[in-house]
Amino acid sequence: MARKICFINYKGGVGKTSLIVNTAAALAKIGKRVLLFDFDTQSNASIWLLKLDRWNKINSAGDGAIYSIFDPGRTQVKDLVIKDVVEGKSGEKLLPGLDLVPTTFNLVDLENEYNGDPKRPPYLVFYEQLQAIEANYDFILFDCPPNILRASQCGVFASTEIYVPANPDALSLIGFTLLVEKLQKFHQLSASFRKSGQGPAAQVHGIIFNSIKTGVDIEVPKMRMQLRLNQFKTAKRAAAVAKIFDTQIRDAMVVRRAVALGLPVALVSAEATDAGPGGDNVITDYRKLAGELVQLVPS
Ligand SMILES: Nc1ncnc2c1ncn2[C@@H]1O[C@H](COP(=O)(O)OP(=O)(O)OP(=O)(O)O)[C@@H](O)[C@H]1O
Ligand SMILES: [Mg+2]
Repeated sequence: MARKICFINYKGGVGKTSLIVNTAAALAKIGKRVLLFDFDTQSNASIWLLKLDRWNKINSAGDGAIYSIFDPGRTQVKDLVIKDVVEGKSGEKLLPGLDLVPTTFNLVDLENEYNGDPKRPPYLVFYEQLQAIEANYDFILFDCPPNILRASQCGVFASTEIYVPANPDALSLIGFTLLVEKLQKFHQLSASFRKSGQGPAAQVHGIIFNSIKTGVDIEVPKMRMQLRLNQFKTAKRAAAVAKIFDTQIRDAMVVRRAVALGLPVALVSAEATDAGPGGDNVITDYRKLAGELVQLVPS
């Protein structure tokens, strides 16, 4: 069974997409079979990994992206998988093992214009189709926007674990708190649609601090986050194993540059990676994060 994981926070811009793309790459690098779904209509992860030209073709064709499983509904998730998505200039495969189901801007229509059968909400349609390919993967990752509207619901419903990217600030803490409230509501709403054998609805399994500047002491925001997490664990609104990850991701220019290069940070040349005092760099952070994720035994 693949581990199915959402990266989500109600706070925007905390690093959900950069964390999920770079963690997916780190997992593929250690030989895991990884499938990344882009459930954010902004299409950041899709444009990043496909680069603009390939993504533009899909966007203008109007199919080949996730919304087409809902409207017109003839496409299946299994037909949308772009195998070994990261390519070099001549189409050579740079990162075998990392597959993508992309999105395009039409995913926004799922929130407003889509009038599906209320007895078959989009997350159920998606979940049923996911079954056909789940066994091909060790990790299935869902990049979500900062809300639990219909697109995110697909990822949340299918997930077994949820991770919350956070910056060391009050707004990330508020975003986390709101997320847990909205998760409870969604889980209640979707409970009757869960399949036998699907397992319990996903709870928060971890908080990941991202974009930490050198020399900045994050002990106080970390402590506040830990207190809030403890409260949720006591109330059984977060998983018993939930923790703040030991690994935190440093703030590094290369993370922003990698998007323009159309590569995960792990594939950007070594000299561009903002190596710190011991030659340590942000690639090491992502590698450690992936290792910690692999070690964490989901409850
Ligand atoms: N560790 C980092 N170091 C430097 N810049 C970073 C780091 N992580 C993320 N960023 C930058 O911060 C910005 C926001 O990151 P990202 O798009 O991953 O956030 P997000 O939570 O997915 O945003 P949204 O809510 O819009 O989906 C981007 O420009 C990204 O390149
Ligand atoms: Mg994002």
